[in-house]
Amino acid sequence: MQIIREINALRRAVQAIRGAGETIALVPTMGALHAGHMALVAEGKERARRVVASIFVNPAQFGPNEDLSRYPRREAEDAAMLEEGGCDLLWAPDVVAMYPDGHATRIRVAGVSQPLEGASRPGHFDGVATVVAKLLNQVQPNLALFGEKDFQQLAVIRAMVRDLDLPVEIVAVPTQRDADGLALSSRNAYLSTGQRLAARALPRALVEAALAMRGGTAVEAALAEGRAALSKDGFDIDYLAFCDPATLQPLEALDRPGRLLVAAKLGGTRLIDNIAVEPA
Ligand code: PAF
Repeated sequence: MQIIREINALRRAVQAIRGAGETIALVPTMGALHAGHMALVAEGKERARRVVASIFVNPAQFGPNEDLSRYPRREAEDAAMLEEGGCDLLWAPDVVAMYPDGHATRIRVAGVSQPLEGASRPGHFDGVATVVAKLLNQVQPNLALFGEKDFQQLAVIRAMVRDLDLPVEIVAVPTQRDADGLALSSRNAYLSTGQRLAARALPRALVEAALAMRGGTAVEAALAEGRAALSKDGFDIDYLAFCDPATLQPLEALDRPGRLLVAAKLGGTRLIDNIAVEPA
């Protein structure tokens, strides 16, 4: 697997792949890879001749009081996992390569980026949209793969690709979970042993709220029960909401497919998760 850190070298590598008539799948990541990322690589390999992964811990998507400095960085292990998973090229620019002096352009996807994560983390999705647009322009993939774990991020990226007519297919890959249901996340590494056990309550609250809604409990009552259960289990809840999967606007009834989304803190660690809910 080639590791490239400089934009001109990346351009040459991409041109060589394109010149050979081969398709490219892009797996954008911030590193600290786990089985969730490797599922994206595996899906990319199924769908394209070449898989390019990127590792870039994007300062633009972290707020001033967030975990940028302590975000796990372990490029050597990540590169070994990617190579083992059959990735062809790793694009690993540093901050200066990604945002050279004078970089002044920001992408903002109004609407879908504003509720939920957008309300709790102002500017977060501007940073995500900007870096993903840059990664798509840099790598020029036929398709790019994103996990459903970051469901609102996926919706923001789909909206950006649509609005800017970017010639790329966005592929969503289902959330990978541990045996007890907790969604895989690089931030799970922050949890103590006790917190890791307690964290099982997060996916459980989603499943129970979905079952209640499908069983006829009103949406708001099911959400209230879910919030109460999470508080009892020691979570500091940011939101538990039932939303339209494309716009992320709240839905008041389960009269069409929707998405249950949650963000809550356990100790200092903020976890997010989501599941689909279909009418019974
Ligand atoms: O999901 C992530 O890891 C990041 O938000 C992404 C898409 C790589 C952009 O930095």
